[in-house]
Amino acid sequence: MIKKDYTKRLEELREIIDYHNYRYYVLDNPDISDGEYDLLMRELMDLESEHPELVTPESPTQRVGAQPASTFPPMTHRISLLSLDNAMNIDELAAFHQRVVKWLGSETITYCCEPKFDGLAIELIYHKGILIQGGTRGDGFIGEDVTQNLRTLRSIPLKLMEHDPPGLLEVRGEIIMYKSAFDELNRERTAKGESLFANPRNAAAGSLRQLDSSITASRSLVFFAYGVSEYTAVGIESQFYILDKLKNFGFKINPEKKLCTGLEEVVDFVEHMSSIREKLPYEIDGVVVKIDNIRDQEKLGTKARAPRWVIAYKFPPSQATTKLLDIKVQVGRTGVLTPVAVLKPVKVGGVVVSRATLHNEDEIKRKDVRIGDTVLIQRAGDVIPEVVGPVVGKRSGDEMAFPMPQACPECGSPVVRDFDQAKKTTGVIWRCVNMSCPAIIKQGIAHFASKDALDIDGLGRKIIDQMVEKNLVQNVADIYGLRYEQVVRLDGFAEKSASNLLNSIAESKKVSLERFIYALGVPHVGFVKARDLAMRFGSLEAIMLSRFDDLITVEGIGREIAQSIVGFFSNQENLKVIEKLRLNNLNIQNPSRPVKNATKFTGKIFCFTGTLLSMTRAAAKAKVENFGGRVASSVSAKLDYLVVGSNPGSKYDAAQDLGVSIIDEEKFLQLTQG
Ligand code: IVH
Repeated sequence: MIKKDYTKRLEELREIIDYHNYRYYVLDNPDISDGEYDLLMRELMDLESEHPELVTPESPTQRVGAQPASTFPPMTHRISLLSLDNAMNIDELAAFHQRVVKWLGSETITYCCEPKFDGLAIELIYHKGILIQGGTRGDGFIGEDVTQNLRTLRSIPLKLMEHDPPGLLEVRGEIIMYKSAFDELNRERTAKGESLFANPRNAAAGSLRQLDSSITASRSLVFFAYGVSEYTAVGIESQFYILDKLKNFGFKINPEKKLCTGLEEVVDFVEHMSSIREKLPYEIDGVVVKIDNIRDQEKLGTKARAPRWVIAYKFPPSQATTKLLDIKVQVGRTGVLTPVAVLKPVKVGGVVVSRATLHNEDEIKRKDVRIGDTVLIQRAGDVIPEVVGPVVGKRSGDEMAFPMPQACPECGSPVVRDFDQAKKTTGVIWRCVNMSCPAIIKQGIAHFASKDALDIDGLGRKIIDQMVEKNLVQNVADIYGLRYEQVVRLDGFAEKSASNLLNSIAESKKVSLERFIYALGVPHVGFVKARDLAMRFGSLEAIMLSRFDDLITVEGIGREIAQSIVGFFSNQENLKVIEKLRLNNLNIQNPSRPVKNATKFTGKIFCFTGTLLSMTRAAAKAKVENFGGRVASSVSAKLDYLVVGSNPGSKYDAAQDLGVSIIDEEKFLQLTQG
C-alpha cells in the first residue's frame, strides 16, 4: 500500500470502529457480530503497529494500555462544578417551585426532570471534537485527572460524532456501574476471597480511581452525560435539547428525561421514577429538577455552593447503619433455618427496620458479621431488608461470633445440611427435617389457607398458632375436621366468628387444581409452576403418578423441581394427608379444557395497579398468561387494559392520559371467565 492509501484506510477503520463502538456501548444495539468487530480492530492494530507515527490519541486502539500512573495529577476546572441543593420531601420541592415562580414572575415554569444517578461526577474536555482531558469533580474546583482511565470507557467518545464540533466543549456527567456488573464483580471478588464493594457507587469510584488503567478497563463502567459547562458551546437554550445534542455527539444520555410544566407534573415524574427505581438497571438516588430555559437559569444565577435554578429531590436512602443486637434463627415452611438479624430500629428507604435477613450460615461467615457489630443495612423496594456487612472500624472487641445452632430452635430435633445437587457438595442450607415440627406445621397451614391457595378467609397466623398449640390440627387436612365447639373456645372467638370461620373452611372445599397444587407447598413449586402442572397433567392423580422423565418435559420444570415433585408425592406422610383431604370431600376442579381459552387474550397486554382483593398479582398475571396474554410492568399506549385495584398508583393517571381502557377487578374476573 502506498502512504496515501493506508492513511485513508486508517481513517476509514477508525471511523467504522467508532461507529460500531457507539452502536454497542451507547445505543446497546450492535449491528455486526463480535467476530466482525474483532477483525476490524485487528486490521487497525496491525496497520498502526506498522506505522506507529500515524497513531493518534483518539484512535480506538488507544483506549487501553497506558502505563500505570503513580498518582493522579490535579485537574483544575475552568468553570467549577457546583453541588445541588436537596429537597428531602415534596414540601421542600414545592417551596423550591414557589421561589422560582416568585423570582421569574411566572406561574408556568417548565422543568427538565432527570433521574439523579448515584455514581461519580465527571467532567470531559473536548478540543475541536477530540477528548483531551477528563477528571473527577473533587471539591468542585480541583479534581483528579483520570484521563487515561476514562479513555478505557467505550461509552465515552474519544472523538465527537460531529463534522463541525465546537472549539471547546466541557461535558458533565456521571460514571456508574450497572447493578448486574456490580453483582458480578462482587461474585468474582468473593471467589477470590477479596473484600466486597458495599454498593455500585463505591465500586464505580474504586474502579475509576485505579492507577493501572487496565483494571478500570476490566470493570464495565458506563458514562452518562447530563450537561455542559456553558450552553454557548452548543448554542441551545434548553437543558432538554442540550441532552439531545449530547446524544447526537455520541454520548449516552438517560432516556427517562422529561419536560414537566408546573409542580404537579414534576411530582408525577418523581412518583413515576420512584415506582420504577428498583427496576432500573442502575442505581438512582433521586430526581434532578432543572429549570429548562437556560436564560431563566441565568436570571436566577447561583449562590455560594449551588445554583438557584436546580434542585435534587432525594429518595429516602436505601442503606443505613445500625447496631446488630442479636441473631435469631427462623424456621421456614420447608424447614429451612434462616438466621435473622435483630437490629436497633433504624429508618431505611422511608420505613423503620428492626429485622433483616442474614440469608444463611455461610453468608454470616463470609461477611464476618458478629453480634454487637455496627452493620450496614440495605432495603430495595418490597424486598426483605438485608445485612450488607459489618462496619469493621467501629468494633470495640466485645463482638461475638454467631454459632449456627445444631438443633431446631422450634422443636429441638437435630438439623441437617442440604446436599447441593448441582455442585454435588454439601449446600449452604440447614434444615429441620422433623415432619411434626410445630413451626413447619403452622407455616404449612398458613400457606394452605393463603389467598392464592385455598383462600380461607379468617384463618390467619394467630389462629393457626393456637390451633396447633392446642393440638386441634396437626396437618392441613385436620382443618376440615374442626368442630364448632373447638373453634368457639379459641381466644378471640365468639359464636358468630366461629361459624364464619367454619363457613369459609367449608367454602374452600371447592378449589381449582392449580390452587390445590400450589397449596400443598411442594418445595420449588410456586403458583406459576403449579398452574403449568395443572394445565399439563389435567388432574391430581396424573400429577401424583407423573414420573421424573414426564415432568422435565414441562416448560420451566428442570431437574431440581422435577425431583422435588417426585419426592413430595412419594413421601408417605404427604400421601396420607392428601388421602385425608379427599376423605373430607375436597372438591378439586380440574382445568375444564386446558386449551379451550388458551388464546382468548392473545396479543392483549394487561397492566395492574393497586391491591387486588380476590388474588395476588402473581395469580392475576398467571391468569392473563394462561389465556395467551401478556402483563406489562408499566403503562404505555400499547396497553389494552389497566386493571385497577384499591389504592392505585400513578399508573392510573398515566393510563387516563393515554386513553387506555381502565377496568376494575370485577370486570377483569368477568373477562377471564367469559
Ligand atoms: S446536574 C449544577 N444532573 O448529583 C448542576 N447532576 O451534587 C450540576 N448527578 O455528584 C449537576 N445525576 O454528579 C445533574 N442528571 C443529573 C445528575 C446529577 C446525578 C449528581 C452530580 C453530583 C450530584 C450533585
